[in-house]
Amino acid sequence: MSKQTTRTIAAQICYDVIFKKTNLSQSFKQRLSSAQVLDLKSAVKALCFETIRNYLSLEDMWLQCLDKRPKDKMVRIIMSQAMAEFKFMDKPDHAVVNEAINTAKKLNKKWACGLINSCLRKAVKIMDYQPANESAQYSHPQWWIDKLKTDWPNQWQNILEANNHKPPLWVRSKTTPHPDLIPQQHHDINCAYKIQSQDITQIESFINGELSVQDASAQLAAQIISPQNGEKILDACAAPGGKTCHLLESNNNIKLDALELYPNRAKKINQNLQRLKLNANVIIADATDHKQWFKGDKYDKILLDAPCSASGIVRRHPDIKYIRLETDLTNICQDQQKLLSSVAKVLAPHGTFLYVTCSIFKQENTDQIKYFLKTHPEFSEIKLEYPFAIKCEYGIQILSGTQDMDGFYYCYLQRCQ
Ligand SMILES: C[S@@+](CC[C@H](N)C(=O)[O-])C[C@H]1O[C@@H](n2cnc3c(N)ncnc32)[C@H](O)[C@@H]1O
Repeated sequence: MSKQTTRTIAAQICYDVIFKKTNLSQSFKQRLSSAQVLDLKSAVKALCFETIRNYLSLEDMWLQCLDKRPKDKMVRIIMSQAMAEFKFMDKPDHAVVNEAINTAKKLNKKWACGLINSCLRKAVKIMDYQPANESAQYSHPQWWIDKLKTDWPNQWQNILEANNHKPPLWVRSKTTPHPDLIPQQHHDINCAYKIQSQDITQIESFINGELSVQDASAQLAAQIISPQNGEKILDACAAPGGKTCHLLESNNNIKLDALELYPNRAKKINQNLQRLKLNANVIIADATDHKQWFKGDKYDKILLDAPCSASGIVRRHPDIKYIRLETDLTNICQDQQKLLSSVAKVLAPHGTFLYVTCSIFKQENTDQIKYFLKTHPEFSEIKLEYPFAIKCEYGIQILSGTQDMDGFYYCYLQRCQ
C-alpha cells in the first residue's frame, strides 16, 4: 500500500471500531505505534474521535443523497469521515471531497471514487438536514435512547447531546495547577481542576506526581470515603488505580488493599502508585471469591467501583456506543450483584461501603442497591447530598455533562452489625 496518511489510518481505526467492534484504545495501540505514523498521532486521534462520536448522524447525512447504502463498509467509513471533517472540523467542502477520493484510492477503493465524488458533493450542500430517525439525530443506538428516555424522562436529550461533545480535561491536584494551564477549580469537589492542555504527560507537574488526570465526578469517591488514620480499607476493583491513589493522597496513614482481577491491569495500579510515590498492597485476585485473598481481618471501609456499561463516560469512549449491546447488561448486572454480596462479607460491623459505577442506567445503579438491601438487611443507606447530583430512590446520580463532568453513580452504605 502507498504511504499512510492521517485519513487512511483514521479510516482503518474507525472501521475496526464500527464494524469489527474493536475497542478504540486497542486499535490506536495497534495502528499508531509504528515510527512512520507517530507524527500523525494527534491528527488521527482527533479525526477518529469526531467520526466515531457522530458516526450514526454522519452516515445518515450522506445517505440522504443515495438511493441505497453502498455494500462496501470501508467506503461508508471514508464518506462519514469526510462529513466529520466538513461538519465538525471546519474543513472546506472541496478539500474534504478531494481528500476522500485520495483516501479511497490509497485504500484500494478506486472503483468507488465516482460514487464518493458525486455523493459527497451533494451532501456538503445540504442546508436543511433532517435526520431520518432518532438514532441518526443523536448518533446513539435506538435501544440506548429508549433506555435513557425511561430512566431520565426529563434529561435524556441533554445526556445524549453531552455524550457527543469533546470532554474537558479534569485533573486532581492538592495545590492550584500552574496558571499556564488556566485552572478552574470545582466548587464542591476539593482537588478537582478543569485545565487547558494538549498533552498532560509532558507537563512537569504531571511527571513529578503533583497532578493526575481524573474526572471531577470520579474524585467524589475519596471525598465520600474520607480515609481516617489507621483505617483498613479495601479498593475492591482497583485498576488503573485512580481512586486507589486518591484515597492514599487523602490520607497516607491507612492500610489499603487494592484488588484487581487482571494482572495486566494491576500493573497500571503499580505504575500510578510509583509515579505518585504512594504505597498500597496490590493483590491480583477475584473480588467475588474472597477465599482467594481475604486474610480474616475485616475492613473498616470498602470502595466497590464496579465494572459496568460505562454509559456515563461515552464522551471519552465513544466506541462504547457501538461495542456495547443491550443484552450485555444482563451479565454486567449479575457480576455487579455478585461483587456487592461477596465484598459485603469482609466489611467490619459498623463499617461503610461505597458502591460506584460510571453508568447512568438505573438497572446498574439504584436497582442493584434496592436488591442488595432487600437481601442484606444488615445494611442501611447513608444519604448523600450534592448540589450537582440527582437523588435517586437509593444513592445519587451525576448525569453526563452536568457541570462538565462524567456520569457517575454513588451509593454509601453502612453495616449495622
Ligand atoms: C471501573 S474499573 C475501576 C476503576 C478504578 N477504581 C479507578 O478509579 O481507576 C473496574 C475494574 O474492576 C476490575 N474487575 C472486574 N471484575 C473484577 C473482579 N471480579 N475482581 C476484581 N477486579 C475486577 C476490572 O478489570 C477493572 O479494572
